[in-house]
Amino acid sequence: MSICPTAIETERLILRAPIPADAQSIFNAYAQDPEVTRYLTWQPHQSVADAERVIANSIAAWEQGTSFPYVIKLNDSGQVIGMIRVNIDRFKVELGYVLARAYWRKGYMTEAVRGVIDWAFTQPHIYRVAAVCDVENAASARVMEKAGMKREGVHKRYTVHPNISDEPRDCYSYAATK
Ligand SMILES: CC(C)(COP(=O)(O)OP(=O)(O)OC[C@H]1O[C@@H](n2cnc3c(N)ncnc32)[C@H](O)[C@@H]1OP(=O)(O)O)[C@@H](O)C(=O)NCCC(=O)NCCS
Repeated sequence: MSICPTAIETERLILRAPIPADAQSIFNAYAQDPEVTRYLTWQPHQSVADAERVIANSIAAWEQGTSFPYVIKLNDSGQVIGMIRVNIDRFKVELGYVLARAYWRKGYMTEAVRGVIDWAFTQPHIYRVAAVCDVENAASARVMEKAGMKREGVHKRYTVHPNISDEPRDCYSYAATK
């Protein structure tokens, strides 16, 4: 059984569990965009079938209670603009997130990350919310800082970001703790 709520609401956003119809929205909005995937662990989608696989895996992860990927929706228009994944390992949460380029620099991801942190710290057994980003991903590092996470250090040679190089790259480690 999952312990994540199926929806988290913030001022402008609704984070909710994915449904099959999200695949087309995600493909159209960002998954095929090489600017968006530059610092991610996956390559741009070639067709909507790639997005369908991601959504099917996301739905399965919720069912298995292993990982909780949320679709990020604007609450006024209902537009799907990104995703934020919440992994829970006993007392700690790890995040990953992505947003369509048309919606960058409007504070949306900071709002989504804050929403997840706020929820997490209402859970008595969760003490830590963490995430990593490529050392060159300044926008992601800034989101974490604005959301109240602190940079803890650099994981050397930590993650392969295949759109940049086949070699593992250095990543900043950030966390908020209570
Ligand atoms: C990282 C990402 C989620 C940020 O989302 P966003 O909604 O645009 O973020 P916000 O608007 O909440 O905040 C972005 C902050 O980074 C800053 N920023 C954006 N691009 C930047 C850049 N290239 N260099 C430095 N700072 C940058 C913004 O100015 C803003 O800070 P400010 O409010 O102090 O001005 C989005 O750029 C994205 O989806 N990128 C591709 C996927 C990705 O890299 N995901 C994270 C993997 S670790």
